[in-house]
Amino acid sequence: MSNSMVVLAAGKSTRMKSSISKVMQLIAERPALGIIIDTAKNTNIDNIILVTSPSMENVREFASAENPNIIHAIQKESLGTGDAVKSALQYLDKTGNVIIMYGDTPFVETKTIEKLKKSTSDLTVVGFNTDFPNKYGRLITSEKCLNEIVEFNDATDEERLITNCNSGIYSVKSEYLHELIPLINNDNAKKEFYLTDLVKLFVDRNYSCNVFNVNEKEVVGINTREDLSNAQNIMQRKIKSRLMKDGVSFINPESSYIAYDFKAGMDVTIYPNVFIGKAVKVGNEVNIRSFSHLESVEVKNNVNIGPFARLRPGTILEDDVKIGNFVEIKNSHIEKTSKISHLSYIGDTNVGRNTNIGAGAITCNYDGISKKARTEIGNNVSIGSNTCLIAPVTISDGAYVTAGSVITKDVAEDDLAFGRAKQVNLAKKAKTLREKK
Ligand code: UD1
Ligand code: MG
Repeated sequence: MSNSMVVLAAGKSTRMKSSISKVMQLIAERPALGIIIDTAKNTNIDNIILVTSPSMENVREFASAENPNIIHAIQKESLGTGDAVKSALQYLDKTGNVIIMYGDTPFVETKTIEKLKKSTSDLTVVGFNTDFPNKYGRLITSEKCLNEIVEFNDATDEERLITNCNSGIYSVKSEYLHELIPLINNDNAKKEFYLTDLVKLFVDRNYSCNVFNVNEKEVVGINTREDLSNAQNIMQRKIKSRLMKDGVSFINPESSYIAYDFKAGMDVTIYPNVFIGKAVKVGNEVNIRSFSHLESVEVKNNVNIGPFARLRPGTILEDDVKIGNFVEIKNSHIEKTSKISHLSYIGDTNVGRNTNIGAGAITCNYDGISKKARTEIGNNVSIGSNTCLIAPVTISDGAYVTAGSVITKDVAEDDLAFGRAKQVNLAKKAKTLREKK
């Protein structure tokens, strides 16, 4: 039996007020469409047809990068969800069931799709009950049979009181989909071809229609910025719940933001107000203290980060490292037991083992015009406070660099380097100046 899914993404996203399609809006750093592609993968759907509009080249590129087997159907004009499915028909054979999903409804669970795949009804609509039916299509049912879906704009006041709504997820017998999609018209308030009109066409022909309801959190549609923020909250709760099961503690879960792909070991503690962006992986016994911001970094075991630390892409922290407050690290590898405790910028640098970088020390990795250069710092090195290391420069094992130095030349193993202006003390000069005033 064929095993196909059609994902609709060609809508204009008017209500989002954005130049980015709503299916590409990020939820925990992942586009809504990416979440749907993951679900399709987890349910072994082998034939995915994505419907986009001609101008959505970036959406097609993203989808094909995620799954090269995705078939692209183009809907020439956004004439409604019924018309969108019409543009996919040519890629669907007439056997088995087709699952239809909306690209703005990303949280559908694998178990729901599995259940839909087993559906024996000619048309099954996934519904939900809600206290806030807003503008969702209303399900008109009698004795467990679905008779009609009425869109909000076309509904009577009485129909608008119905709290059982259409999620926009369906399983349809492919043969009947081919037969009836061409019969949908646009005789309605929005002058659109509504996919939801399929129900009436099925009922008229005595083809079986039913509904199964899921929790409303699973099927929130993301049409507006407010919907998007609601979706962020749902996603955050899901991510944190998974992490807590795996051994991560959150001191105040609501205040931290965690990307969908965060990987953490056991006994990891996330303090309030932490931001964890994409591609962050931490080992066991890691503390990430308040107001720290991490993105594309790898952290090994027994590491302390923050408060107020910023770890930028390409940073690797080995075991037992300590990164303190107001420290920014970019594209740098910090070896075991080294410490950068206060007010530093370390960019494009290797720091060896058991090295201490003093307060306010920075690497000057940019020549101010076009070139970035690397700094190499060895093992057991001490970099004094407020030092500028002008890259490219190498500080070898066991070297000491004194506080306030501007280091432009390499420092050899076990050497002591001064790079300060000489201090001059003029006896009683301060007093003389004061008296002159
Ligand atoms: C739709 C349903 C509504 C349901 C709700 C659930 C219809 C007519 N209405 O309303 O019953 O309660 O979803 O969230 O289906 N799209 C296209 N081409 C188009 C128009 C839309 O591909 O011409 C895509 C959109 O990108 C979107 C999806 O179809 O991903 C749904 O369209 P949208 O405009 O969001 O429909 P809703 O008003 O939310
Ligand atoms: Mg929608």
